Amino acid sequence: MKLWGGRFAKETEEAVHAYGSSLSFDRRLAPYDIRVSRAHALALEDCGILSGDERAKIAVALGEMEEELERGTFPFGNDEDIHSAIERVLVERLGDAGAKLRAGRSRNDQVVADLRLYLMDATVRLMKGLVALMEALLEQAEGNMGVIMPGFTHLQPAQPVLLSHHLLAYFEMFKRDVERLREARKRMDRCPLGSGALAGVTLPLDRDMLARESGFSQVTANSMDAVSDRDFVADVLFGYSLAAVHLSRLAEEMIIWANPAFGYLEMDEAYTTGSSIMPQKANPDVAELARGKSGRITGHLVSLLTMLKGLPLAYNRDLQEDKEGLFDGIDQLDITLEVMAGALATAGFDAGSMRKAAGEGFTNATDLADYLVSKGVPFLRAHETAGKLVRLCLEGERRLEELTLKELRAADKSIDEDIYDHLGVEECVKARDLHGGTAPARVEEALWEARRWLETQRV
Ligand code: ARG
Repeated sequence: MKLWGGRFAKETEEAVHAYGSSLSFDRRLAPYDIRVSRAHALALEDCGILSGDERAKIAVALGEMEEELERGTFPFGNDEDIHSAIERVLVERLGDAGAKLRAGRSRNDQVVADLRLYLMDATVRLMKGLVALMEALLEQAEGNMGVIMPGFTHLQPAQPVLLSHHLLAYFEMFKRDVERLREARKRMDRCPLGSGALAGVTLPLDRDMLARESGFSQVTANSMDAVSDRDFVADVLFGYSLAAVHLSRLAEEMIIWANPAFGYLEMDEAYTTGSSIMPQKANPDVAELARGKSGRITGHLVSLLTMLKGLPLAYNRDLQEDKEGLFDGIDQLDITLEVMAGALATAGFDAGSMRKAAGEGFTNATDLADYLVSKGVPFLRAHETAGKLVRLCLEGERRLEELTLKELRAADKSIDEDIYDHLGVEECVKARDLHGGTAPARVEEALWEARRWLETQRV
């Protein structure tokens, strides 16, 4: 059954039907389509289009369909989309009562209502996935408190930091992701029902009731915007993409750290995979896939924006192309979050390798310059002096703390014996003692803040 056969003398070309059908991918909207139809039946009864009896019959039939969809026994046919499928079955089972339900609505406002409701739920699920990943991250940060590693810039040794500080940097990114998704979800909570095809409808539908009954807290303001707007899709796709990019950065670090040349991290065997030819391999494929999938999810965002950019008002069929990428993005992010949380929770950090690397590569050179500043030397000159001392060390394969006081004083006579209290890796870490810094006291505070924030996410 088509929803629009009347004006056509010819049958639709089979390829055209197949080309335009979205049923293969929009079935996941079914529970929301049923909820929206139930609300619409109430609104139609309210306007006297449906009798109380007809409305009750529709509600029962929709309830049956809901169960059939869940059990996988729903009689799908060669339908154009999920909206047509549900309405066809309703008409087959109820006759005229079912056929009355189309009054005062269009698939254009219906699909937007369904999609918004679906996305509101999916977004909550992904937020929960993010929170679970953050739990794994925080447990590692808490459990490894005190472990010192080299902090990098340009992937070159820069300054020593606490591993927990490094892990908490990712915690911040994911926290922003959760907040961003929460805000996007709030923005999409607007009911388009009553917008019709584009101009609104001639029935006096109670839009507030429609919103309430279908699960929205507000209504959209402009019918033309309502049916053609997919900003809410772009909004969440950006949120998903950025979360995926953060996962990808974390994955990249896990890959690097698991390399024996670094040896900072060992992934649990259950989260690594072998090679068909090299018997020794235990590869970090999970992290590589997470890195790869971020490209795929970001691609869906770009596809959507590109699809939208030339559309005149109001509904255009191009908009049907909003779904596959979006659904794939949700599925991919969902599983990536789950697998990465497991990989992270089960990974072991090698405190010894990290501590050793933290002391290499002159990561205390800034502290030497800062020491000179504390003795009244202008930083630019202090930088120059510390640089010259690094050069001296490079010639003899020594560390800054291995230079004699005589050598140090030859470079700047304001250097005293106490310099050696400032060059140890532990001292360097402890010295960054300000809010947001890597000093253990500050990181303890940050861990506590993170724990407190996570607790509020569980309620
Ligand atoms: N399946 C369509 C979509 O996803 C809704 C149908 C609207 N079709 C139409 N010809 N007005 O956008």
